[in-house]
Formats: sequence, structure tokens, C-alpha cells
Amino acid sequence: MNDNVEIIEVGPRDGLQNEPAVTLEQRIELVNLLSDTGLTHIEAASFVSPKWVPQMADADLLMQRIERRSGIRYSALTPNLKGFETAVASQADEVAVFGAASEGFSQRNINCSIAESLARFEPVMAAARAQKLPVRGYVSCTLGCPIDGEIEIPKVADVAERLYQMGCYEISLGDTVGVGTPAKAKAMVAAVAERVPVSALALHFHDTYGQALANVLACLDLGVRRIDSAVAGLGGCPYAPGASGNLATEDLVYMLHGLGMDTGVDLERLIIAGNHICQQLNKAPQSKVAQAILAK
Ligand code: HMG
Ligand code: MG
Repeated sequence: MNDNVEIIEVGPRDGLQNEPAVTLEQRIELVNLLSDTGLTHIEAASFVSPKWVPQMADADLLMQRIERRSGIRYSALTPNLKGFETAVASQADEVAVFGAASEGFSQRNINCSIAESLARFEPVMAAARAQKLPVRGYVSCTLGCPIDGEIEIPKVADVAERLYQMGCYEISLGDTVGVGTPAKAKAMVAAVAERVPVSALALHFHDTYGQALANVLACLDLGVRRIDSAVAGLGGCPYAPGASGNLATEDLVYMLHGLGMDTGVDLERLIIAGNHICQQLNKAPQSKVAQAILAK
């Protein structure tokens, strides 16, 4: 294997949305530190209801105050038109709609059924088309759901295909609770790749059971080259109890570089960013690579 992988750094959004005491200043500082690492896509904010996720409040202020670097796309979650309009006014370079392959999770996370969510995304897609703004689409619970349990692979492929047909340029396949294992992850991605081009698929694996890196490795075989991760392995979804952090970006970068693949990311700078936010939050980085290098 010898080619490029683009990492979508979701630490400032997925990583911090579950942190009870995170401040706006800390969120801005993390985005700025990550902007110095060579990353090209940082999911910086979430234009969701602050009553639902108070940690992500003031996304407009965050987008206004971060120090933007050329060559980096700063994106944000937008569950509906209200969120989309604020994201556009705040100069988001890109937005993401987020649906699920599980009815139970869709209800709990965005308060509507899967069908209702897809209908709600239509006006967002139309507005984004008019503004020529790229939209990513997430599918949560692709390898299991905290409420509904097992999820059938065709359901994942259905939702992924609908989002792609609606105009999402990329579909990020989320193992929201981190229960997947490599063969299962590979089978899921292979099935989705029959309906959506593999070049338009990204992996978004949480690491609750310690399987995220192995799951990524299995799916690299299928040709996927776009991977979401969070610095220091921060993260979790407020509506997926028991789910722990995302795959740690440091561990992902270390493995990809070890495979001879290029990410453009400077591991040392990444570790500095992760260590800084962890000190602020008074917790240890979850990345094994960061732990090993910091212990030297
Ligand atoms: P709702 O209560 O059904 O919405 O929530 P509503 O339209 O009835 O509005 C209720 C109130 O929210 C109103 O305010 C609206 O104005 C306000 P009020 O009149 O009561 O004062 N509101 C908003 N405010 C700010 N921004 C908005 C917005 N929309 C409505 N965009 C809604 C529906 C979708 C808004 C809500 O359920 C929500 O915000 N959910 C977000 C949950 C969330 O952020 N979850 C975490 C992200 S997803 C994730 O982590 C998974 C992922 O990482 C992939 C993976 O791991 O699988 C992406
Ligand atoms: Mg997630």
C-alpha cells in the first residue's frame, strides 16, 4: 500500500461534544492548534440546538474567532435549515447532515424517524446547492445501535445511497458505539460500496471496544482512503450512552505512516494539540501512540 489518505479531524466537534465542562476558548484553541498540524479538514463545530448539546453552543462565535489557515476546510454539523443558515453566515467551508441506519437512534439523536430526517435534509441540500457548499452525510449505527441492537447491512446501504443521491459528496459510515469488529466492518463497507462509489466513502469508527484501528485496516483493503478520527481519542455521542471516544488521530497517523501511506500530518504537532486539550480537560490522552511518546 502506498498512497494518500485524507484524515477528517473531528476532535473539536465529536471529541468535545460530550465534555461537560469544555469552554468556548478551549474549543477555539484546539482548532487553532490542529490547524498547525498539516490536517486539511477540521470538523470544528456543530450548529445544533444548544438545549440538546450545550457543549456545542456558540458555534457561530467559534467559526468567527478561529484563525483560519489556507488549505484547511473548516466544517460543521447542520441538522436542519436553521443550523445550515447560521453555518453559512458563520462562513463554514462545508457542512454535514447526519442520519442513522437505526430508527431508535434517529429518534433519540435528532428527534425524528429516518424517513423524516431524510425529508428534513432535502431543503438543506437544496440551499447548499444554491450556495455551492459541499455537504457530507453521516450514517450512524452502521455496526450496531445502543437502542435497537443489531443493524441489518442493507439498511445501512439504503440510507447511505439516499444521502449520496441527495447530493452528499461523501458518506461517512459511523460505528457510533464502537462495537464493530474487522470482518463485520469490511462486510458492511463492501456492501455500501456496491451502491456508493468507494471513493465517496469515509470511515468514522469509535473505539469503545478497542477495535477502531483494526476496523480501519480491514477497510483500507477495499480502497477507502478517507478516515475520521479525533485527536487524543476524545469523544462520544451524548445520545449513545456507553460509547467512548473516536479512533485517536495519533494512532491512525502512526499506523498509516507505518504502512507507507501519506497523510500530510505532523505527528509531533498533533500530540502537542492533543496533550494540550487533555491538560485543559484534566484527563489523559486516550491515544496509545501519544502515551508512548509522552512517556519518553
Ligand atoms: P427538536 O426539539 O425536534 O427541534 O430538535 P424543533 O425544530 O422542535 O426546535 C426545538 C428548539 O430548538 C427551538 O427552540 C428551535 O429554535 C431550536 P425554542 O423555540 O424551543 O427556543 N433549534 C435550534 N437551535 C439552534 N440550532 C439549530 C436548531 N434547530 C432547532 N440547528 C434537533 C431537533 C435536530 C434540532 C435536535 O434534536 C438536535 O439539535 N439534535 C442534535 C443532537 C446532536 O448534536 N448529537 C450529536 C451529533 S451526532 C453524532 O455524534 C454521531 C456522529 O459523530 C456519527 C457517529 O458517530 O455515528 C455524527
Ligand atoms: Mg461520532
